[in-house]
Amino acid sequence: MRKHNIFDIPWKTFQALPLEEKSAYLAHRDGTIYHTLFAQQFDEALLERLALLANAIRAIAKTRAGTAFLQSQVCHKRAMLYFSQPSSRTFLSFISACQILGMKTAEVRDTSISSEFKGESKEDSIRTFSSYFDLIIMRTPEKGLAEQMAWTLSNSDRPIPIINAGSGPDQHPTQALLDIYTLLRSFERRGGLRDRTVVFCGDLLRGRTVRSLSYLLTNFSNIRQIFVAPEPLQIAPDVLEILDKKGVSYACSNNLQAVIPEADAVYMTRIQDEWDKSKGESARIDTSHFKFGLNELALLSPRAIIMHPLPRRDEISTEVDGDPRAMYWRQMRNGMWIRTALIAMVFGCEHAILDYHRANF
Ligand code: NCD
Repeated sequence: MRKHNIFDIPWKTFQALPLEEKSAYLAHRDGTIYHTLFAQQFDEALLERLALLANAIRAIAKTRAGTAFLQSQVCHKRAMLYFSQPSSRTFLSFISACQILGMKTAEVRDTSISSEFKGESKEDSIRTFSSYFDLIIMRTPEKGLAEQMAWTLSNSDRPIPIINAGSGPDQHPTQALLDIYTLLRSFERRGGLRDRTVVFCGDLLRGRTVRSLSYLLTNFSNIRQIFVAPEPLQIAPDVLEILDKKGVSYACSNNLQAVIPEADAVYMTRIQDEWDKSKGESARIDTSHFKFGLNELALLSPRAIIMHPLPRRDEISTEVDGDPRAMYWRQMRNGMWIRTALIAMVFGCEHAILDYHRANF
């Protein structure tokens, strides 16, 4: 019997469902995650559960015996990383996550040397991968493609889970997971992730990490969100609509220095000029006031943190890197652990790992 829900409705009907209703189709029958497509699949309880699992995994991985135990968890499965958009951190952290759990991996990063170049459709390519692999981790420039592939696979005779590692300018759910994990860890000894102010700064219109994280933050009590961007790159209305619906307090601003003193976390992002509609479009926007340097650091509370999904250009000065509040390098490493936790959960290893942790630590 299948362990997850079949998408027993046509693609167009599924596609038109609100995200919250889609989530049920994407889960295992026991309610845990099967396909990971968007941030709306995660609530506070599930996020806390993943963070707990990630904490257990990183403790277990410190010993040789623990490493061997972790590697025995999913050693009977193979993962395909299908990345048709540039990536360093997401790609490498997913490869590392698979290795930690003993999974073998293969990759397609350049579709010009795969059969897509010969005219094969993406659907056929994905079904081909599913013949050889047990998990597909995919990054594409196309919004909605991961979702369509999940629907295709779930209705095929060899369904396997999909993890969305970035879908166009739309969503990047696993980046949001590592961002939440970083926030949970940063505030765990200081009353937890509640009653905080998170400032987002940069290209908020086209940054998919902000879209996913802004949603995930709505799961936590009383998190105020402030969006700081030059007007043409300000956060999209659909994100604000969700915040309105959920009764989340937010503000939009174009003055970074004015809001820094209120921040518990400042989340900087780069200008996403790969999405420019005309050449040099972003270069004509004045972004000089949307950078974090020593002057901004001086305004930041001693207990606040600075985050960035990376890669950065010059939106955070390297002079800030040595400050204990600069969290972006640790944030990046957290990505490996939370992605390991996610894959472990997808393959049903959560309880075995927690039991091992309880027995040995
Ligand atoms: C982000 C992305 O790809 O959206 N990078 C990442 O995965 N850490 C952010 C970006 O590219 O600016």
